[in-house]
Amino acid sequence: MKALVLAGGTGSRLRPFTHTGAKQLLPLANRPVVHYALQAIADAGIEEVGMVVGAHGDAIRHAVGDGSAFGLRIAYLRQPEPRGLAHAVLIARDFLKDDDFLLYLGDNYLEDGVRAFVRRAAADGDAARLLVTPVPDPTAFGVAEVGGDGLVRRLEEKPERPRSDLALVGVYAFTPAVHEAVRAIGPSGRGELEITHAVQWMIDRGLAVRAETTTRPWRDTGSVDDLLEANRHVLDRTQGQVDGKVDPHSVLVGRVRIAEGAVVTGSRIVGPVVVGAGAVISNSSVGPYTAIAEDCRIEDSAIEFSVLLRGASVEGAPRIERSLIGREAVVAAAPRPPQAHRLVIGDHSKVQLTS
Ligand code: DAU
Repeated sequence: MKALVLAGGTGSRLRPFTHTGAKQLLPLANRPVVHYALQAIADAGIEEVGMVVGAHGDAIRHAVGDGSAFGLRIAYLRQPEPRGLAHAVLIARDFLKDDDFLLYLGDNYLEDGVRAFVRRAAADGDAARLLVTPVPDPTAFGVAEVGGDGLVRRLEEKPERPRSDLALVGVYAFTPAVHEAVRAIGPSGRGELEITHAVQWMIDRGLAVRAETTTRPWRDTGSVDDLLEANRHVLDRTQGQVDGKVDPHSVLVGRVRIAEGAVVTGSRIVGPVVVGAGAVISNSSVGPYTAIAEDCRIEDSAIEFSVLLRGASVEGAPRIERSLIGREAVVAAAPRPPQAHRLVIGDHSKVQLTS
């Protein structure tokens, strides 16, 4: 079996970050999201991967290389325009040949990986196998209607009125039967060749498409909130380890990972937190659930439940939370105008000053 990883697209919900970088390279615990996908693929015993890339192809190539770090062989396939998931399969035809393959959306994070899913897909004789999971609001996803026999009856892409609560997770196992389907369908209302339409085309022609339901943690990291949640999730599974320098005036609580070359002085870090190489944290409070990438600088600040990308700096910020701060971005306290309060206050009054 081969894998086809989709790392193109526009990432419109993650602008402005996706103006300058690929969303699949945004980090979870300081590692690009797509690394987790590649690790999961390697753990499932797959060796050959086609990586579909678009405008940020060079950056992805730089971050992923030839795949040997994962024990994979990666071929890069350029998709000139993000014309949909089925279009990505269409352009990968020569690479995929007539092999079965795992389609893996490069911005999806699955805690348990795909080993069991791949094993079951290889063992059964169905034309396709989809991973689905119950979600409270399925309108942002592909939605599957599944019969009592486990076969998919009907699929809809981001329906306004979902007929079930089963969202499509971004991994699919296909036999070569999908190639005829992606050639046959036309663009959807949003102008894309939808993989859900291709699979519906297969179902309509009597091919067996099986749904496998999971309730294990999964995240599509396509928005800031989802990325922060996925980061929280990965941090929860991260072990503490201090390879950098922490001075005696600092306190580390819980699982804190500090890379070699990072320096912490006069600060309190409450895990789970990861700090990348070359980062400097001084007179600050960091965490929990915070990932500080390499070469960041945090000074006289408090920050929690946030992700800082490479080279970001935060100075004099009394409290930052639920934030995603871009590469080389600078957050600094505004210079304070001279300020005084003149008060004429009656007896027994109570006044609260915010600054
Ligand atoms: O995350 C699960 C959902 O992923 C499914 O429930 C939906 O059925 C499926 O359509 C997909 O929806 P999204 O709106 O999240 O897809 P997105 O546009 O984010 O693309 C998914 C990945 O594929 C992402 O890594 C970008 C990449 N991509 C996307 C398009 C449209 C490409 O490589 N080429 C493309 O043309």
